[in-house]
Formats: sequence, C-alpha cells, structure tokens
Amino acid sequence: MEKVKKAGERADMHDQLAQRTCQAEAVMEQYLPDETGHQRTIFEAMNYSVRAGGKRLRPILMQETYRLFGGSGKEIEPFMAAVEMIHTSSLIHDDLPCMDNDELRRGKPTTWVKYGYDMAVLAGDALLIYAVETAAKACSMTENGGMVARAIGLMAEKTGIYGMIGGQVVDVELTNQPVPREKLDFIYRLKTGALLEASMMIGALLGGADEAALSTVERIASLVGVAFQIQDDILDVTATTEQLGKPVLSDEKNQKTTYVTLEGIDKARADVAEMSAEAIKLLHLLPGENLFLEGLIQMLITREK
Ligand code: IPE
Ligand code: IPE
Ligand code: MG
Ligand code: MG
Ligand code: MG
Repeated sequence: MEKVKKAGERADMHDQLAQRTCQAEAVMEQYLPDETGHQRTIFEAMNYSVRAGGKRLRPILMQETYRLFGGSGKEIEPFMAAVEMIHTSSLIHDDLPCMDNDELRRGKPTTWVKYGYDMAVLAGDALLIYAVETAAKACSMTENGGMVARAIGLMAEKTGIYGMIGGQVVDVELTNQPVPREKLDFIYRLKTGALLEASMMIGALLGGADEAALSTVERIASLVGVAFQIQDDILDVTATTEQLGKPVLSDEKNQKTTYVTLEGIDKARADVAEMSAEAIKLLHLLPGENLFLEGLIQMLITREK
C-alpha cells in the first residue's frame, strides 16, 4: 500500500513539474527579443540558446520560493526570465572552444557551432546584460521599487566575480591540475551554487522574507546548488549523451578534477543525498510550507538528466 502511495506521489510530482516548466517557458517567452533589425543575428543566437530547452530549474526554484513566502504578484516574472538568461549565457560561454570545448547542449549544436565563435561570445554577453534590462522591468510591476533594486544587486553579485564567474575562473584555471577538496568546494559553491542562491533568494526577497529567513534560504540554495553540481559530475560519467542532451565524459576529456574523481562515485552519491536532506531540514525551519518545493529538492537527488 505504502509503495503504491509513493509511486502515486512521484507521478504527481512529475506532472506538477511538467506544468511548472511550461509556465516558466511561457514567462520567458514574453521577454525574448524580436528577431528584426540590422543586429538580427544576435537576437537569433540568444533565442536559439534559450529556446533549445533545459530543465528551467532556476526560474522554477525562484517562483516556488516566492510562493513559499506568500508572494502572488507579477514582479517575479521578469526575474524568472532574467535568471534563465544568465544561466543560458553561462552555458554558451562554458561550451566555447577556449573553455570546455563542447559541441552539443540541450540536445542541439552549441551556440558557437551554430553561429560561430564570435557570435557565441557576443550572445553570451548579450544575454547577460539583457537579463539586467529584463529584471529592471519589474520596477513598474510593484510599489516596492527598493526591493526590486536590491534583487537586481543580488542577482549581479551572485552572477559576477563573487559568484558564478568567480567560480568559473578557478575551474578553468585549475583544468588539468590536481585540485584539493577545499578548492573544489569553493569552485562548486560559486560556479553553480551562487546562481541557485540568487534564484531562491530573489524569490524569498520579493515574497517578503525577513533577513533571518533570507539567510536560511541562502544556505538551503547553496546546499542544493553544490549537490546539483556533484550530481552533474556523476551524470557526466554514468549517463548517456541522449539522456543529458550534452556530451558525456566532458570532464575526462578536459582532464578535470571533479567530486567523482576526488571522492569516488559512492561517496559522491551519498553526499548529494546528505546535502539535500540538510537543505530540506532547513526548509522546515522557515515559516510557511511548500510541498512541491520540498519534493523538487528531493527529486534532484536522483535526477537522471
Ligand atoms: C548545467 O545546468 C550546468 C550546471 C550548472 C551543472 P543545468 O543542468 O541546469 O542545465 P539545463 O538548464 O537543464 O540545460
Ligand atoms: C558549468 O559546469 C557550470 C557553469 C557555470 C556553466 P560544467 O562545465 O560541469 O557544466 P556542463 O556539464 O557543461 O553543463
Ligand atoms: Mg565547465
Ligand atoms: Mg561544461
Ligand atoms: Mg558538467
């Protein structure tokens, strides 16, 4: 009986996630540029990369955290689009020949393969700054302009030199070299954790969280983000290209030290589960309840793409 109930809950989560993914895509679609004008190529390259697919995890986490704190307005939407643009820009640049040199992303040729190295650099830059332009549209959707300004600041901080880009710098610099665990933790916290922190913290902030709750959300998102990157490393050696829509064994090709090469696959799996359990424990300390959000964090432990 218990087994049947669990399977039913899983199917239900699956449906809810599919619905949220569609909603996030519809939101994003509203903010993508029209493909007209002399600079049309850049619009096409941006839209190609965003529309290629992806799990849309960051906007979904943002919206669910917003809901957890009782948010029900529209001002979250430009931020949902913005964070997915930033994430997509990081993937475009991550795949470049000078970085991970990968040719498949989200099941399609990478942006540099499709549009050329030059346009891919520009498309990544363009999405990064268009994300700010997009987020700023939230100003006219709420009375609380100050909060929107703070959210934009947070988004920039977690994306930039103290966040995602900072992490990618150390990741790239240490390619081909042994990396001590403490440095690997730093890389994962920044290159992947920081953008998940931005997503959940912006949701919390706009939803009306107080400072104490905001810092708990930061910690939850950091745990989820690092676990997410470890699972990404696991899938790089255990999944198929069809499953992921990106090349497997990319880390080995680039002679990367990863959580898996450092700690072994069993410990990597155990740590993903442990970090996620810790995140859920902290989630329970927050006011309010969002069972979907909790279920999503749980689902990510065993994600297969
Ligand atoms: C891939 O992110 C890059 C990492 C930070 C591990 P996702 O696995 O969220 O990629 P998409 O958005 O689903 O394509
Ligand atoms: C990338 O990590 C993290 C980013 C900030 C893009 P990876 O290089 O492992 O991501 P994938 O495996 O190419 O998606
Ligand atoms: Mg990389
Ligand atoms: Mg990569
Ligand atoms: Mg990877």
